[in-house]
Amino acid sequence: MSTETSPRPQTTLPLDRELVLKVIPMPADCNANGDIFGGWVMAQVDLAGAVVPARYCRDRMVTVAVNQFIFKQPVRVGDILSFFAHVTRIGNTSITVQVEVFAERFGTQGQYAKVTEASLTYVAVDHEGRPQQIPRDGLQQPT
Ligand SMILES: CC(C)(COP(=O)(O)OP(=O)(O)OC[C@H]1O[C@@H](n2cnc3c(N)ncnc32)[C@H](O)[C@@H]1OP(=O)(O)O)[C@@H](O)C(=O)NCCC(=O)NCCS
Repeated sequence: MSTETSPRPQTTLPLDRELVLKVIPMPADCNANGDIFGGWVMAQVDLAGAVVPARYCRDRMVTVAVNQFIFKQPVRVGDILSFFAHVTRIGNTSITVQVEVFAERFGTQGQYAKVTEASLTYVAVDHEGRPQQIPRDGLQQPT
């Protein structure tokens, strides 16, 4: 039997990440079982993850990869979802971001559960859809 204690679930919002999206899932976002459809969460994460790379690319960009996607806890109708993002890698033509999603459960106030965590990579492309260099002067995070 393990004597290790598991880390306590995070119940506060991160102060060192940028809030890029807030949204409340609706009944129309549910699957046949009445739970929030995972594909809906993935779409929101893709939208949220694109916010910071868009500042760097300043032109067309596409999602090339979902490197990791973890549904840690279920999302429910009426939860207030907060999406936080930070850049983990800037390549030649690509940017990788980590997105963390926190739920303020319906009816609670100021209590948060981390429900989803994902890593996505976006590529800057030209008007023919070919990868292009990320502007080097755009690497400063706007405040
Ligand atoms: C994104 C796309 C233009 C890249 O074209 P490509 O020929 O693979 O280009 P490259 O091999 O030069 O890779 C470009 C960058 O993407 C990165 N990349 C490519 N495949 C990747 C993968 N599977 N995972 C992570 N990064 C990847 C490369 O490392 C490179 O980054 P870097 O320049 O910072 O080192 C092309 O794959 C594409 O158009 N994909 C479809 C995108 C799309 O439609 N997305 C929406 C889906 S609905």
